[in-house]
Amino acid sequence: MIDTYGRNINYLRVSVTKRCNLNCTYCGADCHGKDYELTAEQIEKIVKVFADFGIDKVRLTGGEPLLRPDICHIAEKISSIKGIRKLALTTNGIRLKEFALPLKKAGITAVNISLDTTDKEQFKKITGTDALEKVFDGIDQCEKAGISPIRLNAVLIRGQNDEQAESLINIAKTRKIDVRFIELMPFSDAGENEKLVVKGEELLKRFPFLKPVKAQGSSFEKSVARYYESDSFKGRIGLITPVSDKFCSECNRIRLLSDGKVKPCLGNEETFDLLEVIDNEALLRERIRQAILSKPMEHKFSCGYGNNHGLNKIGG
Ligand code: 5AD
Repeated sequence: MIDTYGRNINYLRVSVTKRCNLNCTYCGADCHGKDYELTAEQIEKIVKVFADFGIDKVRLTGGEPLLRPDICHIAEKISSIKGIRKLALTTNGIRLKEFALPLKKAGITAVNISLDTTDKEQFKKITGTDALEKVFDGIDQCEKAGISPIRLNAVLIRGQNDEQAESLINIAKTRKIDVRFIELMPFSDAGENEKLVVKGEELLKRFPFLKPVKAQGSSFEKSVARYYESDSFKGRIGLITPVSDKFCSECNRIRLLSDGKVKPCLGNEETFDLLEVIDNEALLRERIRQAILSKPMEHKFSCGYGNNHGLNKIGG
């Protein structure tokens, strides 16, 4: 469906829970609450309507999506909806060892894993959990399951883990895994200081061997990441620069939160409640149409740091 600003909205991010088994310093608190969570059947019903409106790509996010015991059931349901051509997952990787294969069978093709450091102690410090090995086991298991692409997403914070850029990049040297750096967005007190942001340009200066990839992918694979490569690297390096750049004019996404609200823009507070209309097909359709048409022209991040809404509710 084309929105008010001529953008083709074809990508739905579905947060299946706001709960998380990590407690990352920069993410924002409240990931242990017990809010209502949509059932697999409700998610299916909603995604069907979105698919009717032209959504063809869905990403499961959280919180940590693998905390849902029925995550494979949800994946199966979504991947069998007519019109959904691609189903992806974003996870912290802790439970991936167990879930990679069943999720692949349930229709997940691409997995993004959040990983900010390769150092065991630092991982513990950032996430509050001693579980780096589990994440690497999960990555191995994704490779074994034939999931492709596998991408690692890292947020570098100056003075905290920015020295990790090199060892994270080295993963792409030896493995067919894309390593992407996301600029720290102003979502929590910890992310409030722009000086802490490691900008994409800075990384390019630090690693001059990175050359832009010529074919940045088909329009279906359209991504906010700009990709770079280096001779002999198996994977690519991606830069995601929401702080340095605005890609709002090309934004093709919309978000369903785990409590049944639709969030048209990551950088805007407005939401649309679907739970109150879920039993009425016509009203549900109308509410979803309204949400898509309410997508604002631009997000407000660059208007200053300090709007504190934890990313755990939204799923990135
Ligand atoms: N800025 C940028 N990325 C963030 N993430 C969480 N909080 C922020 C932030 N303030 C990332 C996580 C994960 C993805 C879901 O969002 O590190 O990779």
